[in-house]
Amino acid sequence: MKLEKSKALWEEGKQYMPSGVSAGGRVNVACGMPHYIDHAHGARLYTVDGEEFIDYHGGSGASMFGHDHPRVKAAIEECLSRGFFMNYDSEKTLEFAKNFTTLVPTVEKFRLLNSGTEATMAAIRIARGYTGKNIIIKMDGHFHGMHEMVWYNHGKYPPMGPDGIVETAPDSNGIPAVFTSLVKVAEFNNLDAVAKLVEMYHGDIAAIILEPVVFNMGAAEASPEFVHGIRKLCDEEGCCMIMDEVITGMRFRPGSAQGYYGVQPDLTTFAKAIGAGMSISLVGGKAEIMDICSPGGTVGVSGTYSGNQLAVWAANECVKMALEPGFYDHIEAVGGKLFTGMEALMKKHGLPGHVHGKGARFAIYWGYDDPAIDQDLRKSQQLFRRDMANAFINGALDNGLYFHSYWDAPIPSHCGFSVQHTLEDIDISLEKMDKVMAGMTSMV
Ligand SMILES: Cc1ncc(COP(=O)(O)O)c(C=O)c1O
Repeated sequence: MKLEKSKALWEEGKQYMPSGVSAGGRVNVACGMPHYIDHAHGARLYTVDGEEFIDYHGGSGASMFGHDHPRVKAAIEECLSRGFFMNYDSEKTLEFAKNFTTLVPTVEKFRLLNSGTEATMAAIRIARGYTGKNIIIKMDGHFHGMHEMVWYNHGKYPPMGPDGIVETAPDSNGIPAVFTSLVKVAEFNNLDAVAKLVEMYHGDIAAIILEPVVFNMGAAEASPEFVHGIRKLCDEEGCCMIMDEVITGMRFRPGSAQGYYGVQPDLTTFAKAIGAGMSISLVGGKAEIMDICSPGGTVGVSGTYSGNQLAVWAANECVKMALEPGFYDHIEAVGGKLFTGMEALMKKHGLPGHVHGKGARFAIYWGYDDPAIDQDLRKSQQLFRRDMANAFINGALDNGLYFHSYWDAPIPSHCGFSVQHTLEDIDISLEKMDKVMAGMTSMV
């Protein structure tokens, strides 16, 4: 992999940005530095060092439509020609609203924001405003953004009690204990643990929040019993069920994870894929609850850039595409070929591991074969081979495939492909991976 120019730019960047990056996630931890990109097109990234990569990072999930998508680009250009104005809605906003609620009918009303972090912040404020209660229950290992209401127990894993309850551990310094005291943490997929917390904090619970498929801890899927059990607990307790679809949103049919599980959360959050790279997020849910938003209601959810037209035009085009026949057939065909192809290569080279994919996003679990273990974060961590993950990522980078690691932890980082990846791209990628994996056989 050629990195000379990236390295020089990164060194220069250190004078202006902490660690030389505009966001912590820009560093690819497997190779210890960020890649500087010159341009991107379709399924490919082109670096300042003149290298071409087939992209399996997908902008942390925001580039599900690939790069430079012609239809998204045309929509943005049309918006530019109208003055890309701010702080007003347009007929396009309404068109987006109709299309989005057709794609995800469980969302009856919504507000627009700019990032997943903002969307979960708003969801929790709405839940607290609606219920008049304070406590939030979240799951061990789940990530919902970087604010004081939810940034706990994603990067930190304190010991778990026999009842599946975990001490609340902030993932960053700078979070006062008063916020921490309002968040309680239960083991994922352990309904008894969540029920115990509901019993303990009965009468003061505003919401239970979860990621339905936890791409922030690999690709761990909620069991249908767990999702429906949470729905029932929320109904009985009178608190809000918040399904965080910031990553899962739009990635699989029908109607994202809530359609797949057949459940209507009270509140839900979308971001990433819906904007094809433009900053847009959405908090939505049952009309009766969303109507608490001001000015008609009492909970403030607004922002200068909320519903900004460039993002709305882009998002509307994305949702239109997702509603067209064949859209998810393509995702499933590409994913099927990629996941089975990678697993066949692991077997061929005698490497322990498997690929866990759902829609257009997936995780590569090195170290063990049984996907049932993926749902058990603590057990999965014991078996996961970080050394193999790093070897694979660096080998892939050497062979023109961009994979990214966010951390050095024993958890796979989520990867993805876009609607612009073709079956031919997958053939090319598998050929390259064959070489990469052949170089890893001495690791077992
Ligand atoms: C499930 C989930 N929720 C919320 C967020 C926060 O989104 P953002 O990075 O846009 O603030 C993320 C980001 O990765 C996420 O994966």
